[in-house]
Amino acid sequence: MKRHQGRRILVTGAATGIGLATARFLAAEGARLYLVDLPGSSLEESTLALRGQGEVALLHLSVTDEAAVQEAVGDMVARYGGIDAVVNSAGVVAVEPALEASLETFRRVVDINLTGTWIVCQAVARQMADNGGGAIVNISSVYGFQGAPKRTAYCASKGAVIALTDSLAVEWGPFNIRVNSVVPTGTRTTMVQDLIDRGIYNVDAVSRRTPLRRLAEPEEVAAACGFLISSEAGMVTGHHLRVDGGWLANGYLM
Ligand SMILES: NC(=O)c1ccc[n+]([C@@H]2O[C@H](COP(=O)([O-])OP(=O)(O)OC[C@H]3O[C@@H](n4cnc5c(N)ncnc54)[C@H](O)[C@@H]3O)[C@@H](O)[C@H]2O)c1
Repeated sequence: MKRHQGRRILVTGAATGIGLATARFLAAEGARLYLVDLPGSSLEESTLALRGQGEVALLHLSVTDEAAVQEAVGDMVARYGGIDAVVNSAGVVAVEPALEASLETFRRVVDINLTGTWIVCQAVARQMADNGGGAIVNISSVYGFQGAPKRTAYCASKGAVIALTDSLAVEWGPFNIRVNSVVPTGTRTTMVQDLIDRGIYNVDAVSRRTPLRRLAEPEEVAAACGFLISSEAGMVTGHHLRVDGGWLANGYLM
């Protein structure tokens, strides 16, 4: 029996990167998937192989659109009869000096990374609370625990995702809803490739500072998400699982 066989799982930001790797991981484990990403994203193309593998529904929306998220959750419940787990991977980064950063950029990053995560959490938890519980994983970042230059909005949003996760874990524990986060270091996804292409991400410097001396692969982050939403993590809630090669453990220059 596969670990996620028949489980009904929503993944946001599923067109690329960590979200796509998580969808692949869960499809191989037998999950019934509901995958969402922005209109105009590559969701159809990137999930082509998955759709031959099992039950997969796709929907284009922004996680910042509360009405659309609520409608999607209703549609997922109508289709599958409930929701067992959610992985909130939709997110964006912005890199600009804090003295010059626009309020518009700050609001956009917080709106997607924090408010969008909250909107999805609340919509699915209302279903889960009425149906015996469930599991939620939010993707934070090592920058949810540390500052970084030119990433003010990103760090603030990811730190808030940690606080959001803790608060929801505490409040929803009695409903048997577990809420955890995964804390990746630099991971080889579209997001990081875009920064590399723009010359504002130094893979060698990041690798040198990392005890394991490399970036993470999206599949490694996906596996951590898979664990946290599995029954093997049945007593784990309010936990922040680092997938960072030792980045946060390290306080020394290397
Ligand atoms: N790649 C890294 O180094 C890294 C490190 C730590 C944390 N993270 C976090 O992991 C998550 C996934 O990032 P990734 O690296 O896979 O990036 P990615 O850019 O490859 O994937 C993010 C996906 O989210 C989607 N998305 C963006 N805004 C959305 C919205 N409003 N509604 C729905 N979907 C939206 C994008 O279209 C994209 O498909 C993000 O929250 C990111 O902050 C990434």
